[in-house]
Amino acid sequence: MTTWLRELPKAELHLHIEGTLEPELMFALADRNGVTLPYDSVEAVRAAYDFEDLPSFLNLYYQGMGVLHTQADFFDLAMAYFARAREDGVAHVELSFDPQAHLVRGVPLEAPFEGLLAACREADSRYGISSALIMSFLRDRDPVEALEVFEQAAPWHSMIDAVGLDSAERDHPPGRFAKVFARARALGIPGVAHAGEEGSAAYIREAWETLEVCRIDHGVRCLEDADLVAMLRERQIPLTVCPLSNVKLKVTPTLTEHPLPALREAGLNVTLNSDDPAYFGGGMLDNYVACHDAFGWTRDDFIDMTRNAVQAAFMAEERREALL
Ligand code: HPA
Ligand code: ZN
Repeated sequence: MTTWLRELPKAELHLHIEGTLEPELMFALADRNGVTLPYDSVEAVRAAYDFEDLPSFLNLYYQGMGVLHTQADFFDLAMAYFARAREDGVAHVELSFDPQAHLVRGVPLEAPFEGLLAACREADSRYGISSALIMSFLRDRDPVEALEVFEQAAPWHSMIDAVGLDSAERDHPPGRFAKVFARARALGIPGVAHAGEEGSAAYIREAWETLEVCRIDHGVRCLEDADLVAMLRERQIPLTVCPLSNVKLKVTPTLTEHPLPALREAGLNVTLNSDDPAYFGGGMLDNYVACHDAFGWTRDDFIDMTRNAVQAAFMAEERREALL
């Protein structure tokens, strides 16, 4: 089954490119940029990846990305990810990135934008992997700053496929970001948002109503609200679920207890994704294999979820038809 799952052309819709930073590359980039890491070995970094919850992960995630400074660093980061994605049989990737987390460290927008866009072009020509770019805003920072950063990114607006919303969810309701999402929409740029990961089902409804997003990242806590489930089913709003991430961040105690089967039985539009593969113990293939082992899903189940992802992807119609 693993071989078959590897060969199934998969689309990854929920991936933080900064969360693909493997410890080996973290050390190489720290050396290159003269950054001192608070670890003395790759093993020590991996040993630190034992999280209690989303905030405890985010602390290490923001610390780790401190080694990323130049356009070349972002290019190398994304190419290392694309090489692994190719081994996993990933055909299409939507990369989210957090420009504010770089700006606050003095890294200008050019570095992530130009580095990531160059890597996306290279992945297409080298591996035949198509991609999209999602500019994400940090929900635990000021919404006014998000709007300013979005305006600063004007030179790249035509290269952005969507805007997103991530970082610490609890006590940071999505509605505060309505202005920047509306501004993006006015320019023809759609929105996606993390909701219902550590936050309640109410945040999923709020993201849908106030940000007018076209997909929900995670969304697993929707099951707490039957009316919301009915709405998500009727509109077939895609949920980008990240099984191994949810276990690592203790959204669910074990994968066997994950609400994925219940989400699918409720008729929801479910896709499988890896979130932050370097931190959560596996890429797309690991997530697929883990779900096969936990839920006994058949080939038809995986084909169904892969089709959901291709249908929900930001990609040219020609590419979509080729992958369906
Ligand atoms: N949730 C919220 N914000 C994030 C995540 C996540 O899993 N990964 C990177 N930023
Ligand atoms: Zn995420």
